[in-house]
Amino acid sequence: MDEQKKVLCVGLVCLDIINVVDKYPEEDSDSRCLSQRWQRGGNASNSCTVLSLLGAPCAFMGSLATGPMADFIVEDFQKFGIDTSLVSEHAQCTSPASVVISNIKTGSRTILHMNRDLPDVTVENFSRVNLHQFKWIHWEGRNVDEQVKMIQQVQMYNSKLPQQQRITVSVEIEKTRQPLYQLFPYGDVVFVSKDVSRYFGFQSAEEALKGLYNRVKKGAILICAWAEKGADALGPDGLLIHSDAFPPESLVDTLGAGDTFNASVIYTLSNGDTSFHLIMRHFEVYGGSLQDALTFGCQVAGAKCGFHGYDGISRVTN
Ligand code: ADP
Ligand code: FRU
Repeated sequence: MDEQKKVLCVGLVCLDIINVVDKYPEEDSDSRCLSQRWQRGGNASNSCTVLSLLGAPCAFMGSLATGPMADFIVEDFQKFGIDTSLVSEHAQCTSPASVVISNIKTGSRTILHMNRDLPDVTVENFSRVNLHQFKWIHWEGRNVDEQVKMIQQVQMYNSKLPQQQRITVSVEIEKTRQPLYQLFPYGDVVFVSKDVSRYFGFQSAEEALKGLYNRVKKGAILICAWAEKGADALGPDGLLIHSDAFPPESLVDTLGAGDTFNASVIYTLSNGDTSFHLIMRHFEVYGGSLQDALTFGCQVAGAKCGFHGYDGISRVTN
């Protein structure tokens, strides 16, 4: 029965206008791209794409404006079979968008993002959600005050249920914005970025995990991805787990590598035998499944860097 339950990702969906170049443009120059495309973007939205390509039923919760950009986004969600019933529509707002320069020579992605007036979903929106349909809820750290209240609603819901039926909560702290750091004690699984780690003065994933673990709640897993260095994780047993990166033959497109990594880790930890609760119960005995999750996360994210967009993921994992 648990297998039918979905993973919910709460956060941003936007339009990515991707300009592929083989040389980063000079300022005030006028050059041609190799190609240009529209792609559905936003961390939570990208993670849903990857979950769905991996075969996990999933849903997206976030806000959408109306108009041609929003139509493109909705159609794309449908193409990937992602449940959008929890999307809040704001007819009077402008769709957020990113202009991305994607350099195929280096794989680098330079993002210019703008959200003029689209508000994030609130605890009021969240209180109408039937939590019963979810086994895992992931929050991309954004409007933290509201997100903390949403997580508290899940904690309340969980407190009435036996361990195996509880919803696992994960949070992503990616941007170096002070309010986001409030999220550390709210996740069963906490993804902290390289940027945030550096902001705190840490020069490696290992240093960051050891230095930041005191911020997470008792029993939580803290995970830190570090681009071509792979990723590390630290759980309640104090054992540091590492996976090297799996670099593709040629590095083409790193846009959304982190979102792909998060989705692949969540996919592994939320699935069947290796469910999060099982892992936690047997943590001291075999932290192995966390190793599997980290390795799989790096494999899928590494493979993703070898092609444009996400569609190739099903090719790699099937
Ligand atoms: P983002 O900057 O998109 O948040 P990260 O840099 O944190 O993503 O990378 C997430 C994961 O993606 C890494 O743990 C790694 O497995 C993979 N990855 C990212 N960049 C590379 C790269 N240059 N080579 C190989 N793997 C990479
Ligand atoms: C990639 C991404 C893009 C989006 C940007 C927003 O991680 O989600 O799809 O344009 O980040 O910051």
